Amino acid sequence: MRSILTRTVVLAVAASATLAGQAPAPAGSPPPWAYTVNPPPTPGATPAPADPEPKQVPGSTVSLTTSQTRDAFNPPDWHPAAHPPMPDAVAHGRRPAMRACGFCHLANGQGRPENASLAGLPAAYIIQQMADFKNGERKSAEPRMGPPNAMIQDAKAATDDEIKTAAAYFSSFPYKKWVRVVESKDVPKTRIAGSMHVPTNDGSEPLGPRIIEVPEDLARTELRDAASGFVAYVPPGSIARGEALVKTGGGGKTVACTACHGAELKGLGPVPPLAGRSPSYTVRQIYDIQQGVRKGPWSALMKGAVEKLTVDDMIAIAAYTASREP
Ligand code: HEC
Ligand code: HEC
Repeated sequence: MRSILTRTVVLAVAASATLAGQAPAPAGSPPPWAYTVNPPPTPGATPAPADPEPKQVPGSTVSLTTSQTRDAFNPPDWHPAAHPPMPDAVAHGRRPAMRACGFCHLANGQGRPENASLAGLPAAYIIQQMADFKNGERKSAEPRMGPPNAMIQDAKAATDDEIKTAAAYFSSFPYKKWVRVVESKDVPKTRIAGSMHVPTNDGSEPLGPRIIEVPEDLARTELRDAASGFVAYVPPGSIARGEALVKTGGGGKTVACTACHGAELKGLGPVPPLAGRSPSYTVRQIYDIQQGVRKGPWSALMKGAVEKLTVDDMIAIAAYTASREP
């Protein structure tokens, strides 16, 4: 691990040397389609009571009520045979402050667009990120977005042992294809609910320069079914444009990502994989690193890659990386 980081440091220094002296491109404010902020609750409205009927999902014999699927200290595990036994930190967390990792990242670590996939990440990388969240070195560029703040609270509550066992768990099995990337001029109209884009079922609108990620099956995603993935709508032509940036650096706009993230973007040593992961997550991370709110000890290696990117470049890069086989 040390040798790969040394090698990547050398690469990074070389990369920032070529970029030195050029002003960073201003990227404006955090793109609201990527940083999903829930609208304020309607004054006086009371949330509908949870349906008491037990629910099931395809391919599972488990039966749970909607309230049970929302328990942050005992989240649903619809498909227990599809992953190794979960350590306590992942399955239950610890009251009062540490929600189960599996509540947000799902039992199999596939994650959701508003958080992150953890399956298949290098254990050393997971441990480093937990330290960064704890130490205030990893924050979101959009302080009003709820889930990253919740992640920081969880990291602060987690003990070294809990972090070690959770990291060993999530790194022990591969991330599976989870996001279907579709180039499209139009996109179903959505609203933000539960920090996620949810189709409003009243037609479509122009996608424009955005990425909109929605559940393949909203009902299954709402029940936290870890076997039902997402579809990401990306602008026409963005995948090919992203490929050029990722592989060649786009003529000095950025640096080839493959040097550190691996030829197939499947990760290299402790450097995380990018292939097949949520494109909204990827845009947020590139943006956070560029803005300097994600600034852990390893983030410096990303400087040359991100400093000159516009949000449009980030969209193209994320469309391409998400479209790759994990
Ligand atoms: C309340 C929801 C929630 C819970 C519970 C939670 N996380 Fe997270 N986690 C998130 C969000 C949101 C992010 C993305 C943060 C960001 O955008 O920077 C994240 C990101 C991460 C990352 C960074 C992934 C990457 O690729 O860099 C790691 C590692 C992680 N979580 C580990 C854990 C572990 C271990 C636990 C249990 C101890 C846990 N999380 C519990 C919401 C959660
Ligand atoms: C010099 C090595 C290097 C290069 C080149 C590089 N990266 Fe990274 N990248 C890293 C390291 C190391 C991290 C972990 C950063 C941290 O811990 O904060 C990282 C993190 C990331 C993350 C966050 C992943 C996650 O799970 O949160 C994304 C997204 C990313 N890189 C995208 C890219 C893209 C896109 C490119 C090319 C345009 C690129 N990187 C080029 C080394 C590199």
